[in-house]
Amino acid sequence: MPSHIRTVSKIHRIACIPGDGIGVDITNAAEQVLQKLSSTVGGFEFDFNTFDWSSSNYLSRGWYMPPDGLDQLKKHDAIYFGAVGWPDVPDHISLWGLILPIRKALNQYVNVRPTRILPGTTSPLSSCAANPSSLDWLIIRENSEGEYSGQGGTSHEHSPHAIATEVSIFTQVGIERIMRFAFEAARLRPRKKLTMVTKSNAQRHGMVLWDKVFYQVAKEYPDIEIDKMLVDAMTVRMVLNPQSLDTIVATNLHADILSDLAAALSGSIGIAPSSNLDPTRGNPSMFEPIHGSAPDIAGKGIANPVGAFWSAAEMVRWLGEEEAADGLMKAVENVTAAGVKTKDLGGEKNTKEVTDAVCAEIEKLF
Ligand code: NAI
Ligand code: MG
Repeated sequence: MPSHIRTVSKIHRIACIPGDGIGVDITNAAEQVLQKLSSTVGGFEFDFNTFDWSSSNYLSRGWYMPPDGLDQLKKHDAIYFGAVGWPDVPDHISLWGLILPIRKALNQYVNVRPTRILPGTTSPLSSCAANPSSLDWLIIRENSEGEYSGQGGTSHEHSPHAIATEVSIFTQVGIERIMRFAFEAARLRPRKKLTMVTKSNAQRHGMVLWDKVFYQVAKEYPDIEIDKMLVDAMTVRMVLNPQSLDTIVATNLHADILSDLAAALSGSIGIAPSSNLDPTRGNPSMFEPIHGSAPDIAGKGIANPVGAFWSAAEMVRWLGEEEAADGLMKAVENVTAAGVKTKDLGGEKNTKEVTDAVCAEIEKLF
């Protein structure tokens, strides 16, 4: 090629927020794997911009995000997030100081949480031993309102008469858009099946509206098989009858809880990814494993990076690099299939060894 002709790579600007504890380890691991992916596949590059918005900096500076933090994030194509929370800071301060405002202000009203049993790993469910593909779910979590709307308050604090309210907000607009996203997601999967989770027997206002809007939107999707579950019974069905479920739509709180259960049933919380999406693409979307900062294993170098890699693959897909995303997932699956796993999956490898193995596999695949 003549020296004056250069191939132009597409540059994806990524805001990285490692946060606290193992969030730092797994974000470093994800960055290493993403760099390897772009240099091996070619045609695109990542420009990482790291933000030191952590609990230790909160303790010294008094803030998680600076006043123009959201504007800084908006300059990127996507956000990669580790985890936030540390025992020195009350958890409601860290969550409301960083991750929840980002999800809300950047219109990330959908949280997508896939669950599968990866090759070479085992589910604690004996029914999945013979047929691991019987657990293959896509949980769609409402990510902007509901039980995490932030409405409420405390009166008579520090007195025996203290009163606290935590008000759930459900809006027609908010429910309708999450239902529509869930139906579209179900339509893209082979089984075309959507289970709606609710608690409208005991919660007779917001959850009743949730149900009503679900059935309204369902009329637009006659090709999708639907059913409805109360959230308590849903936990039983997930454990005893996993193959009966496919796409699941649930509120902010319910899906938060059900997705930790889903992760455990698929082998470990350490493998579970999530995508906080602004489906309008008016703002950057944010990708993060569903686990937290895991103070009990932080600093030991043993955190499972698979959930971080899967989240990174979802980010790469959202950025339009389909082939690279598929390749990254294939590399991760080849590595788990070969038994290169961290302790939480019954293996003996550490974070670095799994990360290096995934990088080596990427080189083999492309
Ligand atoms: P956690 O997910 O951090 O840990 C729960 C258990 O799972 C721990 O025993 C931990 O060692 C294990 N674990 C989690 N991720 C793992 C991984 N990648 N590899 C191996 N083992 C893993 O949940 P926990 O303990 O309830 O919360 C710890 C802190 O994280 C709290 O401050 C909490 O508020 C915060 N948190 C933050 C989230 C976020 O930033 N999105 C999400 C969940 C919790
Ligand atoms: Mg959670």
